[in-house]
Amino acid sequence: MERNEKLAYQDENLEIEFRVKDLLSRLTLEEKLSLLSGKKLFWTKSIKRLGIPSLKMTDGPHGIGGFAVRFAGKMSYFPVATCRTATWNTHLSEQFGVALAKEAKSIGRSIVLAPGINIQRTPLCGRNFEYQTEDPFLNKILAVKVVKGIQSQGIAACAKHYAANNQEFNRFKVNSKISERALREIYLPAFEATVKEANVWSVMACYNRINEEYGCENHDLLVDKLVKEWDFRGFVMSDWFATRFTNTVKCIKAGLSLEMPGNVKMIPKNQAFCYHPKKLKRALDMGFLEERHIDNNLMRLLRVMFLVGFLEERNIDFEKYRNAPEHQILARKIAQEGMVLLKNECDLLPLNINEIKKISILGPNAKKKMASGGGSSSVNALYEITPYKGLKLKCKGKIKIISSVEKSDVSVICVGLNHKKFNDYENKDRLYLELPLEQEQLIKETVKKNPNAIVILISGSPVAMDNWINEVPAVIQAWYAGMEGGMALADIIFGDVSPSGKLPITFPRKLSDSPAHASLLSYPGIKDWNKLKEGDLSIKKDEFRIKYAYDDVLYEEGIFVGYRHFDINNIEPLFCFGHGLSYTTFEYSNLSISREVINQKDAFSISLDLCNTGNRRGAEVVQLYVQDVESSVQRPIKELKGFQKIMLEPSEYKKITFELHPADLSFYDENSKSWKVEPGEFKILLGSSSRDIRLTEAIKVSD
Ligand code: BGC
Repeated sequence: MERNEKLAYQDENLEIEFRVKDLLSRLTLEEKLSLLSGKKLFWTKSIKRLGIPSLKMTDGPHGIGGFAVRFAGKMSYFPVATCRTATWNTHLSEQFGVALAKEAKSIGRSIVLAPGINIQRTPLCGRNFEYQTEDPFLNKILAVKVVKGIQSQGIAACAKHYAANNQEFNRFKVNSKISERALREIYLPAFEATVKEANVWSVMACYNRINEEYGCENHDLLVDKLVKEWDFRGFVMSDWFATRFTNTVKCIKAGLSLEMPGNVKMIPKNQAFCYHPKKLKRALDMGFLEERHIDNNLMRLLRVMFLVGFLEERNIDFEKYRNAPEHQILARKIAQEGMVLLKNECDLLPLNINEIKKISILGPNAKKKMASGGGSSSVNALYEITPYKGLKLKCKGKIKIISSVEKSDVSVICVGLNHKKFNDYENKDRLYLELPLEQEQLIKETVKKNPNAIVILISGSPVAMDNWINEVPAVIQAWYAGMEGGMALADIIFGDVSPSGKLPITFPRKLSDSPAHASLLSYPGIKDWNKLKEGDLSIKKDEFRIKYAYDDVLYEEGIFVGYRHFDINNIEPLFCFGHGLSYTTFEYSNLSISREVINQKDAFSISLDLCNTGNRRGAEVVQLYVQDVESSVQRPIKELKGFQKIMLEPSEYKKITFELHPADLSFYDENSKSWKVEPGEFKILLGSSSRDIRLTEAIKVSD
């Protein structure tokens, strides 16, 4: 071979599969074993002899950051996942993915540990803000877009945390006991779609157990479903330290390619990590594993290494990508479209900038920066415009900001949660649904002094409002809206933008209304019923949970998660799934379905007219739900199967068309282990929220 001639695996012109095999054939067993676990928290190991560099990763779900890039400087801070999902704008999710990937690239990272696509099962889950929604359809549509966006830039996405990682309390041990039907219909669709529709290059196995088996060694999830059924071609990595209780041989055989973070100082000496080369070697020597098992897992990792071009020269251009002006614009747009106008009595909003003279802005979240904190999704933001700052910039030279509530024309009260323990915070769940007492008091006192009050809720999950909402004319759910959040909020308050966000989760009135809180067995998992005293049931204290916590959590509600639960049990939510007010109004008309009788094979289309009947430009999210009228099994009253976000000028109208497939009418049949569409009557429901259905039409499915 000539001195400069490339080896096959180094040759970019050759097929990736060929390069993978070539590289694999050159690795010694020792080198292979070393590649199966990471180093330095966010890197894989390098192999100098073959010129293989470390593959580097970074969090996370709303901006490049977390512990991975603590020293890499400041990055863009985007609205959190729940806010992005509340836009119901697929295009924005794709653009967000592109932006994440570009920023990752700018600091030499090849894998972005996002999106987080666990279902929001309980409002108490500390990581809800990192997740998208309670609904599997909305979840999958947006997850696919984020993954496509990220991977379009040659950066790997990582769908996490596979699967049913729905609470932070006891997260390293909890055993999510779920029926196959609930897994298929609720918890897995987004993961399945990121594999089948977006060809996601990596998946992160969760901390928890699912039906007894830990995520990292769960054969059913990792082999039978992910690889065999969905044809996953990427690799699986563990969540960080998720292998602490797992078995080496089982993990290898389940197809866990990479243990993260591997041998870092944080691991206690006597607790050798799962893929320690010595452990792997012993398992091989004793015949529990064969080299082909190792090769199988490693090939997947190598494939992704080639896909992200790990041998190619990287053009690291900080100025171009990181915090680029277009990312700031995107962050503002997502925030504008993701904030949800929950209540607006007597059209208090929007405020007229030419009429208002004095405004007061108060509350613990008015000036609080939210980018850093909360756990691994924390972002070291270049800047963050708080609600106070955003309003101040907007009011400049026009409206006076004063501290007296009584003397102001209107007051803006910024309350909610934050990223401290027991709020929106990784590794801990919230303890209750209500706002802290002092915040409720602040709201009440403020409204007493001046009824023109707007409550701004900054949180990643719902809060209870019954104690104060009737006294307040206007409420905006502003989430954690990223570095431009304050600007977007001011845009909405002063009507530069008509709100178009819709809730991607149901807001319950009280915790016990919520599906996971029917009993303590279903959350947080309770050990000994006999020891429980009546007063304990309110679960006010974390110590109480620790005392009684049991690892098993029974997903007793089955498929009735989110609005499915509220609908079937006839519970009035505080704000329903899909709810969100606008400054304009929309009329739905002329529903027509391409056929009355649907067969089991062919797609059919549904069309309607949407008209902006108000006097402002605005966007509406048209939501399509289906209802199975006659069924052999219990099914939800309605299930989201389509949505479109449409921007209309005043008096403008548009014809909107949806295409549905018979599969959209199906349920997962546990007996036949397959999806089933039963003949009979179905209803197509179109509306502005899950409880504001404007048009309905029946169809029949033939045998
Ligand atoms: C989290 C993951 C994250 C990882 C790396 C874990 O604690 O669960 O979501 O990607 O840390 O920071």
